[in-house]
Amino acid sequence: MNNPRLYTIGSSLQIRDAKEILEQHMHKLSWGYGEKVLDIGCGPGTVTTSILQPLLPADATLVGCDLSEKMVAFASAMYGNETIKFRQMDVSKPNIWDEWEKEEFDKVFSFYCLNWIHNQRFGYVFIILVHAYLESH
Ligand SMILES: C[S@@+](CC[C@H](N)C(=O)[O-])C[C@H]1O[C@@H](n2cnc3c(N)ncnc32)[C@H](O)[C@@H]1O
Repeated sequence: MNNPRLYTIGSSLQIRDAKEILEQHMHKLSWGYGEKVLDIGCGPGTVTTSILQPLLPADATLVGCDLSEKMVAFASAMYGNETIKFRQMDVSKPNIWDEWEKEEFDKVFSFYCLNWIHNQRFGYVFIILVHAYLESH
């Protein structure tokens, strides 16, 4: 999963499913001023920018992160701007908070990524930590 152009050509299923799941659940979320949103495993940034971002409040900022440097470089070059940034990150690493601020994000999304994480233990620990943090705020 390291070829952004090839992935983009063959990702109609991912686009369809992300759209469907967001249509079903997005209305359940409440939003504050200037929220910071993370998309884990953003790949080439297509879903992040064409499906997720249009559904966010105009004042929200969005970060897409991905394990693959190539995906991040592609997404940054194609879509990066003041409101959307892309960063390299491995969510299966145990020391995730060395690289990220604990209170950096208000909402976290992820589409078709967790199934790729070999070290599910750390991947899910990260998600659970984020969820617990969001629940408490
Ligand atoms: C199937 S793609 C999904 C891309 C995009 N979310 C979409 O729906 O089109 C899975 C992405 O997860 C990324 N990924 C896999 N393991 C990861 C990890 N441990 N941390 C961050 N991203 C990871 C891959 O590099 C890949 O770009």
